[in-house]
Amino acid sequence: MKKIFLDKEEKTREIGEKLGKLLFPGSVICLIGDLGAGKTTMTQSLAKSLEVDDYITSPTFTIVNEYEGRIPLYHFDVYRIGCSEEMYDIGFDEYIDSEGVCIIEWANIIEDILPKDYLKIELNYKENGREMVLTPFGQKYEEIVEELTK
Ligand SMILES: Nc1ncnc2c1ncn2[C@@H]1O[C@H](COP(=O)(O)OP(=O)(O)OP(=O)(O)O)[C@@H](O)[C@H]1O
Ligand SMILES: [Mg+2]
Repeated sequence: MKKIFLDKEEKTREIGEKLGKLLFPGSVICLIGDLGAGKTTMTQSLAKSLEVDDYITSPTFTIVNEYEGRIPLYHFDVYRIGCSEEMYDIGFDEYIDSEGVCIIEWANIIEDILPKDYLKIELNYKENGREMVLTPFGQKYEEIVEELTK
């Protein structure tokens, strides 16, 4: 587990872009944090590094939005999901097993169906910004966290 302090939005974006450059086809990023913690802001910067041209907003009602980029991006926001089973109806497994990058806002809600390997990113409110807590599950994500925080 590694922590990075994000003192302002620009820092969130800077780290997001750095992280985006380290992602690989099939990456899964789980974003966890309260309303307004910066999950979508982080996703926008990751998308920039993935060379997605579209402007990214939370897919709150559609659950998932797909974007073309250097690697395809699948952006989930599961805030309004009733239960994990609903994820299967939208083809969650296929997305996870694809060669795209999956970014999941509110991933804690579907914790029981997350894959074995993924990068967990918690964004916590602090007095002067946000604290980013990175927890890698699996070798590839350990390397990413190592690289991002060195
Ligand atoms: N490091 C930071 N310090 C202070 N403010 C920040 C920081 N990073 C992002 N913000 C601000 O916090 C807000 C984050 O909004 P954003 O939509 O990204 O949050 P979210 O976690 O996706 O919320 P939701 O759960 O509603 O989808 C924005 O207004 C952004 O300017
Ligand atoms: Mg959001």
